[in-house]
Amino acid sequence: MATHRNIMKALYLVFAALLLGAPTQAQKLDLSPGTEQRIDSLLAIMTLEEKLGQLTVIAFSSEVTGPEGDTIDIRTALSKGHVGGIQNIRGVDRLRPLQEMVVNESRLGIPLIFPSDIIHGSEVVFPIPLAEASSWDLEAIERASRIAATEATAQGITMNFAPMADIARDPRWGRMMEGGGEDPFLTSHITAARVRGYQGDDLSDPSTMVGCVKHFAAYGAAEGGRDYNIVDMSERRLREVYLPPFESAVHAGVGSIMVSFNEINGVPASSNEFLLKDILRDEWGFNGFVIGDYTSVGELVEHGVAEDLSEAAQLAMNAGLDVDLVTQAFLHHIEHLMETGGVSVDRVDEAVRRMLRIKFALGLMDDPYRYLDKAREESTVYRQEYLDIARDMARKSIVLLKNDNNVLPLETTIGKLALVGPFIDNRIDPKGEWAFGGSHYEDIVTMLAGIQGKVSEDTQILYAKGCNTNDDSVEYFDEAMRIADQADVVVVGVGEPISMVGEGHSRTNLDLPGVQLDLLKELRKTGKPIIAILLSGRPLLLDWLEHNVEGIIQAWHLGHESGHAIADVLFGDYNPSGKLTVSFPLSVGQIPVYYSHKTTGRPFQEDLRWCSHYIDSPNTPLYPFGYGLSYSSFEYSEIYLSHSEISPSDTLTATVRIRNAGPYDGSEIVQLYIRDMKGSVTRPVKQLRGFEKIFLRSGEEQEVAFTITVEDLKFYDLNMDYVAEPGRYRVFIGKNSVDVREQLFALR
Ligand code: BGC
Repeated sequence: MATHRNIMKALYLVFAALLLGAPTQAQKLDLSPGTEQRIDSLLAIMTLEEKLGQLTVIAFSSEVTGPEGDTIDIRTALSKGHVGGIQNIRGVDRLRPLQEMVVNESRLGIPLIFPSDIIHGSEVVFPIPLAEASSWDLEAIERASRIAATEATAQGITMNFAPMADIARDPRWGRMMEGGGEDPFLTSHITAARVRGYQGDDLSDPSTMVGCVKHFAAYGAAEGGRDYNIVDMSERRLREVYLPPFESAVHAGVGSIMVSFNEINGVPASSNEFLLKDILRDEWGFNGFVIGDYTSVGELVEHGVAEDLSEAAQLAMNAGLDVDLVTQAFLHHIEHLMETGGVSVDRVDEAVRRMLRIKFALGLMDDPYRYLDKAREESTVYRQEYLDIARDMARKSIVLLKNDNNVLPLETTIGKLALVGPFIDNRIDPKGEWAFGGSHYEDIVTMLAGIQGKVSEDTQILYAKGCNTNDDSVEYFDEAMRIADQADVVVVGVGEPISMVGEGHSRTNLDLPGVQLDLLKELRKTGKPIIAILLSGRPLLLDWLEHNVEGIIQAWHLGHESGHAIADVLFGDYNPSGKLTVSFPLSVGQIPVYYSHKTTGRPFQEDLRWCSHYIDSPNTPLYPFGYGLSYSSFEYSEIYLSHSEISPSDTLTATVRIRNAGPYDGSEIVQLYIRDMKGSVTRPVKQLRGFEKIFLRSGEEQEVAFTITVEDLKFYDLNMDYVAEPGRYRVFIGKNSVDVREQLFALR
């Protein structure tokens, strides 16, 4: 034990001079030369086994003080230097003993990194990412991510397996909930905001953690929406739709990237040199580390590209994957591969260097316990101010889909209010998938509690569950009908439980599960106004609701403050402002349905057989991308363009005036889309190229100006060069991807 301390001490002495006068911690990954030399010195004294240990992150769920078997295994692995990080355990009391073991009992004492999936809050649960995206509020999203990082780092977490930057255009895929929706431009901005939130300005600040953008790449394009399924797509689509959010994360300085489980055009992401070297390193200049997804390196065998775990390790390592998650393939096989020339020492050193850089950047190499401070954990985690911010984020995430005859907002003095449905008195589902590890779930505010806390003393609340989400029983319908019959308004809480959302939860059917729709149909018979509140992690099929209920509120899975936020919107304390970041299909048969499609050579025409259409359904979704109502109404002027023609070095300004013509103050998300009217390859009918969220008092008017540059017009041309082509462009500004004003301009 003395040995390792002496070595570490010697290293510090040798390089102390280099550190003097220079910042001891580098900004992001922009490390000082002194750090690289410290890494060189470490590499020079590390055994191969110790190096491979740094490239091994394991999942270890037992308490260190738990069953002896686990304790002995982990202790042995840590003392041999076989582990570089341990994922998904949180809390100073659990992590500190592990860090102590590695620091005190391994030869070099290189501290562990502790990654976790902090997808929407650590202890205070925020709305699921797809919900937060609906706010289009980058500052709010960054703040939410910052709070998640502040709490998680106080709980010992130094790396976050987030943000998920996967574009998703298929709601059958359960992981759509973890991302920003269908659009690359918006998702790129959101991804960068999250990276900034997690990593701050300086990774050496102990309230920051290294981000890990995932899943690289095209995971959201799984064939048939079935999780883990294959992806086969053109390089053009890959680059135009699926890669931009990852590039945006790299530009924002993300420290690590996780590969996806899927293959792309026959090559699994874990062994995909084109992705991991050509694009990530050579084109984008990424200098953090690449980590496998959970057992993805080992899965190369199941994919059928590797004979065994050894070949899997070789393929992954040589393709540019640096760190193995869970399979321990590198640890057990690379030594032999090096002996037989299958893997080079330089490649291993490069991967180790990338991991060590992150450990240096986090400040762990100088103080392994800087994230393991019990007092800080106690004073930082689960604070009321974070819950207040989570409430605001939740309100901003809600999307008002329908409001016939201004049935909403409700009066708090309403006489009798019936609350019906399996999501009304429910604190499990609002927390959303990927919220685990928190110990305050009993505080999740149910819709029932939120509404009860809002209405006047004279209001009578009647509650009936109505049905379950997972069976066909109609036994509670009568009770629901009885209370609905007595009420002035019926608020129905329906949707999708978390057990149907997230990883491994693909669906072929996007109906309300169980007999929820039957319940709604029964309630419709009462003739009472019905407000449906939808809790889900993806678009569900809402066609019947659109035609049969008076109000629809898309309330996703909103986290701790769910019930408060819903009540705020229901009773008008918050004027809804969210807009969908994913199209809501009319039917599963329409999928994929997204706004940024191409025209085809036979675009849709009413009553024409020989055009691209369905004989039994419109092409258009029920609710388009960018759609969402307000209690107010916003009027848009025509677009004023500063020029009708520009050269590549010019900028163009597109201006509209927007007036809040309704009775409530409120926010509007103003959206700018562009269409290239003719290209060397076909171009989408619209592409989001700008947005601004403005707040207008009732009656107030404001000008919104967007600057368009040649960068906004670029795409991959016939030769796959990223260029803007001269010609005509249409610019659209509006309240969603359909309801827009438009103008033409030309690029010389
Ligand atoms: C998921 C990743 C996650 C990892 C570690 C995998 O199953 O695909 O998104 O980060 O597990 O928990």
